[in-house]
Amino acid sequence: MPHTPRATAPQGLHQLAFGGDYNPEQWPEEVWQEDMRLMREAGVTMVSVGIFSWALLEPEPGTYDFGWLDRLLDLLHANGIRADLGTPTVAPPAWFYRAHPEALPVSREGVRYAFGSRGAICHSNPDYRAAAANITEQLVRRYGSHPALALWHVHNEYGVPVSACYCDNCAAHFRRWLTARHGDVEAVNAAWGTAFWGQRYRGLDEIDPPRTTPTVGNPAQQLDYARFADATMRENFCAERDILHRLAPGIPVTTNFMTALSQCDSVDYWAWGREVDLVTNDHYLITDGRRTHVNLAMAADLTRSVAGGAPWLLLEHSAGGVNWQPRNPAKRPGEMARNSLAHVARGSDGAMFFQWRQSLRGAEKFHSAMLPHAGTDSRIWREVTRLGADLGLLNGIRTTRTVADVAMVWDWQSWWAQSLEWRPSQDHDARERADAFYASLFDRHLTVDFAHPDADLSGYPLVVVPALYLATEESGRNLRRYVEGGGTLVVSYFSGIVDAHDAVHPGPYPGALRDVLGLTVEEFSPLAEGGTVRLVTPEGAPEGPELTGDLWSDVVIPRGAETMWSYADGIPAGRPAVTRHRLGEGTAWYVSTRPTGAGLDAVLDRACEDARIAPRTGLPYDVEVVTRTGDAGTYLFVINHTGGDAKVPLDAPGTELLTGEPATGHLAVPAGAVRVVRLDS
Ligand code: GAL
Repeated sequence: MPHTPRATAPQGLHQLAFGGDYNPEQWPEEVWQEDMRLMREAGVTMVSVGIFSWALLEPEPGTYDFGWLDRLLDLLHANGIRADLGTPTVAPPAWFYRAHPEALPVSREGVRYAFGSRGAICHSNPDYRAAAANITEQLVRRYGSHPALALWHVHNEYGVPVSACYCDNCAAHFRRWLTARHGDVEAVNAAWGTAFWGQRYRGLDEIDPPRTTPTVGNPAQQLDYARFADATMRENFCAERDILHRLAPGIPVTTNFMTALSQCDSVDYWAWGREVDLVTNDHYLITDGRRTHVNLAMAADLTRSVAGGAPWLLLEHSAGGVNWQPRNPAKRPGEMARNSLAHVARGSDGAMFFQWRQSLRGAEKFHSAMLPHAGTDSRIWREVTRLGADLGLLNGIRTTRTVADVAMVWDWQSWWAQSLEWRPSQDHDARERADAFYASLFDRHLTVDFAHPDADLSGYPLVVVPALYLATEESGRNLRRYVEGGGTLVVSYFSGIVDAHDAVHPGPYPGALRDVLGLTVEEFSPLAEGGTVRLVTPEGAPEGPELTGDLWSDVVIPRGAETMWSYADGIPAGRPAVTRHRLGEGTAWYVSTRPTGAGLDAVLDRACEDARIAPRTGLPYDVEVVTRTGDAGTYLFVINHTGGDAKVPLDAPGTELLTGEPATGHLAVPAGAVRVVRLDS
């Protein structure tokens, strides 16, 4: 089925989305009345319902109980609240597994998971597929024209908690997938390099999933299996989506993504973004000491990019602490609003939560909610109602688009390949490089679009490539075209090394990027744990600060590139460490080590000069400034993440929407506050 046009919003929702996962089946129906009253008080406009309700909706195989959901949807409608209705296919009932135990997924080690949690699904299982299609069809036949219905929420967070199953059904399905991808077994042998360690197959029937092996398994097989597992989940999403489209045309279909690179690593969201009508995302702060607001901004930018720049929707985040990290701190006063409005600044047309009312039972009873155990006499409730009111003042921003300044190349498949075993250094992680490049761009107040390596990059003055280990020849040509056309490219080490099958590009590294970077790498020289190298500017090069690198170094042979910094010590002593290659109308930088401290900033300062990006020196550190623009006007979001008051220069006068005050000259943003200025124009 061809992809349907992207929806710009949940059907019939004319405000920003504000609400959360609503699980009233956990409560007596008297409580629902109170929920409605409090939702109205908080300004809730939409809730997500029924996501885990299969066992209630189909209590016996083929017997349905829709009464409670009928009453619930009617109640929501009567209270003017839109419904994001789940297909409950992430949580099949106990009776289903008794009848079809082989629908429980099997781990790589051969352990079959048990019922009693959620998300225990073998996505290749034909009985699961049939049952999921059936409950989806029952739901859409019953509710497809219900007046409360705004959005279909298929499944929940594909890819977590289990992304790949290694059972015999999956083995058979994998063989079919291999046939479609490669053709025949000889093509698989060639792609996987099975001449190595005598892994040659005579027929596809000899191929299994990459189950636990005595030592490292074939990397190309593992990479193909990651693709297969992702594609198999997507098949199931598309099957449900197509039923929903067929029987309820006009209602957009979504499934909630988890684009934060630390939260789901098994889904290629470039491919998924093309399949949903409306991109939605879940985001939780990971409190591991990193700057959480930078991580949030990155996930939001990535989500918007997966949506092709269009508005998207934050479907879940938390009002306070979560319950699944080793330590789950409460959010600081104002943090929840800053988080919510930061997502909105970066393209979300609303802010939704997990969940509305905090559960008394079950695994998530200590997870915060909009309506906490403490009730309405609580800081969380006061902040929630305040946020609802604030969002009500921002409805005008709907459909406007976030303005990006620069791009970062990101590819999940390259990350999967790079994360396999036996790489030159276990310390290297593409995600860590992406985080570091992103933080440096965030700190210079540049808004980042993410782009697939084959995407058209010509609109961006600067493109950074944090660690693109897997890069096809086509991607290499694309990056070259970008530079020749006048772009500035910054590439970090261990990029352009292998092709789509994890085979090293013939010739010296970095095969796919040699031309554009104007150099070759003779040898990798990863550093010992804690080891560092010194980088100095060589004679004749523009003077720059002495830098330190750690983790990695390369033996670089320039072939047209000029040396901007060279190694002062280490194995590559005297050779280039950071290079710059003028090519056509543009320049391509290569950073062959991991600069410590402000080292990456020093390199990016130079690259920004090449890209003619003027430093935004008037903007204070950790004050986030993002613009959304469109037919509905131009809106400047200013989010003060610091403990001090800030002042931000305005390019044009306007009106601050949260206070209603005129804004001109310098905008005052109190410590921890958010301001949104609609610029006059
Ligand atoms: C999400 C999930 C929700 C809830 C939440 C808790 O990943 O979709 O159902 O479990 O986490 O943080």
